[in-house]
Amino acid sequence: MQDIIRRLDAKRAAARLGGGQVRIDRQHGKGKLTARERIELFLDAGTFEEWDMFVEHRCNEFGMGKQKIPGDGVVTGYGTVCGRLVFVFSQDFTVFGGSLSMAHAEKICKIMDHAIKVGAPVVGLNDSGGARIQEGVEALAGYADVFQRNVLASGVIPQISMIMGPCAGGAVYSPAMTDFIFMVKDTSYMFVTGPDVVKTVTHEEVTAEELGGARTHTTRSGVADLAFQNDVEALLMLRRFLNFLPSNNREKPPVWPTTDPAERVEMSLDTLIPDDPNKPYDMKELVTKVVDEHDFFELQPDYAANIIIGFGRMQGSTVGIVANQPMVLAGCLDIASSRKAARFVRFCDAFNIPIVTFVDVPGFLPGTAQEYGGIIKHGAKLLYAFAEATVPKVTVITRKAYGGAYDVMSSKHLRGDVNFAWPTAEIAVMGPKGAVEIIFRKDMDDEEKIKNHTEEYCSRFANPFVAGSRGFIDDVIMPHNTRTRICRSLTMLREKKLENPWRKHGNIPL
Ligand code: HXC
Repeated sequence: MQDIIRRLDAKRAAARLGGGQVRIDRQHGKGKLTARERIELFLDAGTFEEWDMFVEHRCNEFGMGKQKIPGDGVVTGYGTVCGRLVFVFSQDFTVFGGSLSMAHAEKICKIMDHAIKVGAPVVGLNDSGGARIQEGVEALAGYADVFQRNVLASGVIPQISMIMGPCAGGAVYSPAMTDFIFMVKDTSYMFVTGPDVVKTVTHEEVTAEELGGARTHTTRSGVADLAFQNDVEALLMLRRFLNFLPSNNREKPPVWPTTDPAERVEMSLDTLIPDDPNKPYDMKELVTKVVDEHDFFELQPDYAANIIIGFGRMQGSTVGIVANQPMVLAGCLDIASSRKAARFVRFCDAFNIPIVTFVDVPGFLPGTAQEYGGIIKHGAKLLYAFAEATVPKVTVITRKAYGGAYDVMSSKHLRGDVNFAWPTAEIAVMGPKGAVEIIFRKDMDDEEKIKNHTEEYCSRFANPFVAGSRGFIDDVIMPHNTRTRICRSLTMLREKKLENPWRKHGNIPL
C-alpha cells in the first residue's frame, strides 16, 4: 500500500509540475501565474476539486507519442467562490503552450456538461496557443465540441472567459460565445489571424498588442468587457464579479446583506441636471448614488461610452443598469452603444436580473457612417432586447427622451413595468430647435416668431406631463427620492410573472 501511495503521490507531483520548472519560470518571468496558481487565487481556499489530472493526449504524430504530460495542458474541476459553486478550467501554457488537443477539449467538455446539469457557472482561464498543431483535425473537432457546449449553455448558466495569454485563430470563438470576456493588460491578446498572416494578406504591419491586445478590445472592438492590470487583480475582480450573478437561469440573483437603507435620500441629485438643457452632466454620478453602497460594477467603460452598462445592487439584490451618458455624444444611441446595451439586456433577461434604465437620450446619432454601418438593424437590437425582456423593468427619464430613442429605452410601450420621470424630463418627437424648424418652416426668417414657437413647443412638450397625462409615465418623482422609488418598485415586482408566446426562438436582427 505504501508503495501504491508513493506512486500516486509521484504521479500527482508530475502532473502539478506541468511542462516543468523551466517553463514555469518562463511563465513567471512574463509576469504571469501558472494555471494552478490562478485557480488557487480564484477559488475559496482549499475548495478546488480537480478532475482528470491523469488524462493524456493520444497523438503519436511528430514524436508526440514520447511526450505525454499528465493533465495535457488544462487543469479542470470545481470549487467555490464566496461559498457558491463554480466550475473552472485553466489552460496551462507550460504544457505544449496550453494548446488544445482532443483530450484537453474532452476535459473542458466534461466540466461544462456537469455545470449545465447542476446549474453552476463555468469560468475559463484561457492561456493557449490554439489548436494542437500535431493533432490536426482531432484538435479542430475538440474545439467544435467546446463551441457546441458554449451554445447549449448560453442563457442556462453564466459563462465567463478570462483571457490571460494568447488566444488565436478559431480559439477566440469559444470566448466569443461566452457571456463576458475579461483580459489582462500587456500579457493577453485575441485575434482570428495573427500579425504575420495580416501582413501577408493585407500588407498591414501591426503588432500583436495593437491587433488584439486588451486596449484594442476594450476601446476599439468592444470584444472584451474589461481589462485588468495583472493576473492577481484580474482573478480577484472575477470573484467580485461572480457575486453579482445567479448560478443559473432558474435562480434569482443572489442577495448580499447591506446596511444601505432603501429610503436613503440623495439631495445632491436635485441639482444634477444643469439649467442649460444642452450642457452635459455625468450620468455615472446618478448611477453610483442610487445603487447600494455606491458599488457599481461597470462593464465596457471605455467602449461606446455614450451608454453605461453594469451591475449594482438594490436592497442587496443584483440589478442590471443601462443608462445613457450625456457626457459622450450627448448620450445619442449609435451602432456601438446599441449593440453593447442590447447584449447586456439579453444577459439580464436570461438570468432573471431586473433592469433599471436611466434615460437622457436626444435620439439616434445621425450621419452617413451610421446609416451605411446599418444603424437601422443595430439600433433594432436594443429595441428588440428591451421589448423581449420579461424581467422587472424600472425606467427613470432624467432629461431628454426624444424620438425613437424614447421608445427604445425601456419605455412603457415595451412593457416597462414602472416608468418614472424627473421634473426635468423632456419627452417629445425631437428637440425644440429641430421641431420648430420643421413645423414652422415658413416662419424661419422671422426671429421673433421662431422664438415664440420655440417657447410654445418647450412649454407644451419639454416636460414629463404630457406623457404623464397618458399614463406613459407612472409618476414624476423628485430626484433625491430616486433610490427609494426604484427600491419600492423592485420590491413590488419581486414576484413578477410574464411569459412571451411559445416559439422555437425569436429572430433578433443580427
Ligand atoms: C502545439 C504549441 C502550439 C500549438 C505553442 N506551442 N502553440 N504546440 N500546438 N498550437 C508550443 C510551442 O511549440 C512551445 O513548445 C510552447 O508551446 C511555447 O510556445 P512558444 O512559441 O515558445 O511561446 P511564445 O513565444 O510565448 O509564443 C506563443 C504563441 C506561439 C504566440 C502562442 O507559440 C504561436 O504562435 N503558436 C501557434 C499559434 C497558432 O497559430 N495556433 C493555431 C491557431 S488556429 P516548447 O516545447 O518549445 O516549449 C486554431 C484553430 C482553432 O487554433 C480552430 C477552431 C475552429
